[in-house]
Amino acid sequence: MQTDPASPIEPAFEVKSFEVKQEELPPFEDMPFEDIEELPLEHPGAKDPEYRKRRDEIASLAKKFRETGEITDMDYTEEEQEVWRFVASELEELHQEKASPFYLKAKKNLGISNDRIPQLTEMNKRLGETTGFRLAPIEGLVDTRAFLSWLSWRTMLSTQYIRHHSRPGYTPEPDIVHEAIGHIPMFTNPAFADFSQFIGHGARMANDEQLEGLGRIYWYTIEYGLVEAEGDIKAYGAGLLSSFKELKHAFSDEVERRPFVLEEVIEKEYTYSHMQPVLYIVPSYDFLKGEIRRYIESFGK
Ligand SMILES: [Fe+2]
Repeated sequence: MQTDPASPIEPAFEVKSFEVKQEELPPFEDMPFEDIEELPLEHPGAKDPEYRKRRDEIASLAKKFRETGEITDMDYTEEEQEVWRFVASELEELHQEKASPFYLKAKKNLGISNDRIPQLTEMNKRLGETTGFRLAPIEGLVDTRAFLSWLSWRTMLSTQYIRHHSRPGYTPEPDIVHEAIGHIPMFTNPAFADFSQFIGHGARMANDEQLEGLGRIYWYTIEYGLVEAEGDIKAYGAGLLSSFKELKHAFSDEVERRPFVLEEVIEKEYTYSHMQPVLYIVPSYDFLKGEIRRYIESFGK
């Protein structure tokens, strides 16, 4: 058994998808994560002691998961549920118009509703039945290599807390809205799941420069990707699907929407602090799978 999720794979490794059984996973170990005081953008909850206390409580459950392997279902408060209901219903309408057809179907199949915050355990069950992907609770943003490497194990580290109620439309870091509405439905797509796993394989063999390229691919696809669908362009990236403003902006005249060209994307810097001026369109998720394989196979050459 591997002891470190980022344990290196030799560049000669064949880039392929495979199921990972529970007992084959590397152990979940504590990882340094970004405190909300240290985030590059101001956090609306940073000065709210109640919110900070609640965050610590939820963080302790992620830690408990790493010790016991058991995910604890969250007992969300009425205030937290209210934030979810507000954001989820606001997004729902826009999704019908702008989200990829696969995403719309998948969200429904996962049972993600506007009424209540879904639990990681229930989504995990469905992911397991479809693509063998799984979710593991985490306290916040972690190091890029560690985060991406877990994808190699068909595992996505997922937060459970929710954004601050004072600004339901905004969060400077991932939260359960971003994970469950943004990311999780797409992991039920076999090609997308394999593509994600390949990014993980890449992160385990990349040097620092290649890792930066992988981070940019991740950003312009899993976070901000657009896809051709039914003769139109639709969103499948989590950063778009979980933000009303970003999703609207993505289809506005302020954004240049270009075809995804691997060699360009790996060189394209991105920003956290502004909305994205350039987005990339892929013809299909299978295309992504082929392109990431081509990129990773170039490592070590
Ligand atoms: Fe994300």
